Order: sequence, then structure tokens, then C-alpha cells
Amino acid sequence: EGAKLWGGRFEGSVDPVMEKFNASISYDKAMWKQDIQGSIAYARALQKAQLLTEEECSTIINGLEMVKQEWTTGVFVIQPSDEDIHTANERRLKELVGDVGGKVHTGRSRNDQVAVDMRLWLREHLQQLAPHLQRLIQVFVGRAEREKQILMPGYTHLQRAQPIRWAHWLLSHAWPIVMDLQRLQGLYTRVNVCPLGSGALAGNPFQVDRENLARDLGFQTVTKNSLNAVGDRDFIVEYMFWASLVSSHLSRLAEDLILYSSREFGFVELSDAYATGSSLMPQKKNPDSFELIRGKAGTMAGNLCGFLMVIKGLPSTYNKDLQEDKVKMFETASTLLGILQVAAGAVETLKVDSEACQQALSEEMLSTDIAYYLVKKGMAFRTAHGKAGEVVRLSEDLGCPFSELPLDQLTKISSLFTEDVSSLWNFEHSVEQYSAIGGTALASVNLQITQAKEFLNSF
Ligand code: ARG
Repeated sequence: EGAKLWGGRFEGSVDPVMEKFNASISYDKAMWKQDIQGSIAYARALQKAQLLTEEECSTIINGLEMVKQEWTTGVFVIQPSDEDIHTANERRLKELVGDVGGKVHTGRSRNDQVAVDMRLWLREHLQQLAPHLQRLIQVFVGRAEREKQILMPGYTHLQRAQPIRWAHWLLSHAWPIVMDLQRLQGLYTRVNVCPLGSGALAGNPFQVDRENLARDLGFQTVTKNSLNAVGDRDFIVEYMFWASLVSSHLSRLAEDLILYSSREFGFVELSDAYATGSSLMPQKKNPDSFELIRGKAGTMAGNLCGFLMVIKGLPSTYNKDLQEDKVKMFETASTLLGILQVAAGAVETLKVDSEACQQALSEEMLSTDIAYYLVKKGMAFRTAHGKAGEVVRLSEDLGCPFSELPLDQLTKISSLFTEDVSSLWNFEHSVEQYSAIGGTALASVNLQITQAKEFLNSF
């Protein structure tokens, strides 16, 4: 049983349950690399401030490299007294290089260590995430490009509304991810700030050059206030909000595709790689991939809310409550990576049934077009809307679709109806009206594809 880092003033020993309750090593060991990285940079800073001789500094750095090697090769042995990753690495360093190892903690606190480790860890994670978001956008754009011709019903309130292009629907899910990538850049700049050199709370008394230290660790800038720096977990809250938002975007996509893959819609079929069967009903092919995405989006939001509750009433600076941040951050990170990869794979490999999409279009979805027809002939939209409504009623009363309504019946509703009304009974014609930027016409879909590609190239 090793001595506690903070054992100096203590006589009694810690209750074993409390010891376990207090320890974070079981999960913060995930940051072993960042912890060593921070210590190496800090040792250099101490040497520059003349608190370590060159020799001491290289002994410490060599020792830290050995600790790193142990982690890398999986031979590092965690001791029961290793409360957290900072304690564990320092304990091992001292075992390897002797008492001089204790000098690396000069003017430093685990409070600024944990803050810097988490920022380093999150920074790496964010770098790793960006390509997954880019791939997702590429999947949407790639399919949109290949499947521009497919028409399908567009819905509001899940009621058939107007015909749209399948590609337009695909791209409607790409744009939120584009925005998420932009948000990620902003988030990254706020994560990429160095808190090291804040001490426990009051700052660093040893003329450590914090800007130099930050540069050494690849940070863009340094935190401005030590009290805030050790108690600030806003970057984690912001990350979890961002992750929740990304997950919510993919959850809405998932909901669409769960519906579209049902027999009732039949627009898409998931590939076997992203579906599962039923242990009882042999005919089933369940969209588990998308259901899990939808479900995990709930867990993500829960992580965000949970951690907000942790920080909302804390007094200034570091409090142990903050240790709760890690479980949530790590869980969010691994879940998000899963969501992004499964979403991209499932969307990339699903089959769209263009026939079924086309079949689902029905003429009542052209009702708006009847109003637009009259508007183009000079009628006020409100009046035209009423006239189109009369046509809908007529079609229902006669039990015949718009395209089979006799012209003389239509002219009774408005004299503006002439032979050319027959051009309306065409879904392609309908979608091609929406050629303004952002619409579902082919030209607009093409523009979206170009713009999304430009974004990907510029990122
Ligand atoms: N394991 C702690 C955490 O994760 C590290 C900081 C501990 N600082 C302290 N003064 N007890 O938050």
C-alpha cells in the first residue's frame, strides 16, 4: 500500500469504500498519454524557469518516456493506491527515477493537470471526429448525385404533402451535418486553450512561461484566469451539447428511414449489414441500426443534462464533483463515434426502391399546383387556393383523380381552366417548378450538390 500523494497531514486511513468511491483511475487511465505529455512539457517549462537543472529535467523526461512505454506495451501495473491517472504516473515515475521525480509537480496541482489532460484528450478526439462527419456528408451527396431522378412524396405532419426528389431529401440531412462541422471548428478553438500553470487555484509562483508551455503542447492560447481555469468545464458541456445535436440530427434521419423501410412505405431496404432479424418471426428485417441511433441520441442528451446538473451549483474553482465529467465525456465520445459510423454505413448501403417511391405519389399531392396554375393566370393566391380546394372536393365527390376530371366541370369552378391544365398531372413537372435556391427542382438539387462538395473541399 503506497503512501497518498496528499498524505502528509493525515493520520487515519481512508475507509475502503470511500477509497473506491474517490478513485477515478478505472476510467481516467484513458488519458495516460495526455497526462504524460502534459508532464513532459511542464518539466521543460520548469527547467526554463531554472527550477530543474538540465540533468534533472532529462532524468524526469526519460522516466516519463519509460512510463509511457509501459502503458503502450500494456505492462503498466495500476496499484490500489493509484487514485487517478496523475497519481499513478507520478508514483511510477518516482519508482523509476527516484525522488527527483517529485520535482515535476513543483507549482503544479492535479487541478491544472486534469484540466489540461481533458483538453488534450478532447482535442484529439475532435480531430478524429471530423473525417467521420465529412464521410457522412459525402455519403448523402454521393447518393444524391446518382439518384437525382427518383421522385417521392414529401411529408409535413407525416401527411402526404408535395412531390419532391429523393436527392433533395438526402441533402436535407446533409446540411445539418455541414453546420455541425462548422460548429465543431468553433468548439475546437474553445477546447484548444491551455490551463496548465494555474496551480491549485491561485496561479503559478515560479515564473513558468505559460505561453511557451501552451505552444509546446500545441495549444492556440492560454486561459486568462487561474480560478476559472481549474473549475471550468464549459468545453466539456459544449462538446456534449454539440454531440447531442449531431446525434439528434441523425436520430431524425433514423426516424425517417425506420418509417421508409416499413412495408407500409417500402421506399428503402436496409442492407443485411445494418439490420437484424427476429428470433421468432422469420420474415422480419428490423432497422436496429437506426433504432439504436435514435435511442442513443436520448442517452447523449441525458449525458449533457446530467453534467449540467453537476456544475450548476458549484462554488468557484475545483471541486471533486467535477470528477464526474470524465465518465460522461468518454461515454459520449465512444457512442458518438459509433453513431457516426453506423449512420454512414447504413445510409451508404441501403437500397432505394424508386418504383415504390414513384407509386406512393398520388395526384392529390398536386393540389397546390392547381392553385399555382390559376395564380399564373392572374388569380390571387387566396382565391386560387379556394378554387383548388373545390377541385379537390369535386374529385372526391366523383371518385376520380384530377387527371380524369372533365374540363367542363373544371371550367364551372373557374373559367381560367383550359386544355393546358393537363400539363399539371405530371409529378416531374411539379417538382421542376421549385427551381429557386433551396428547392427540389433538378437545378436546385445540382446547386446543392456543388455547394456541399465545395464545402467539403474547403474544410
Ligand atoms: N481525479 C481528479 C478529477 O478527475 C483529479 C483532480 C483532483 N484534484 C484534487 N484536488 N483532488 O477531477
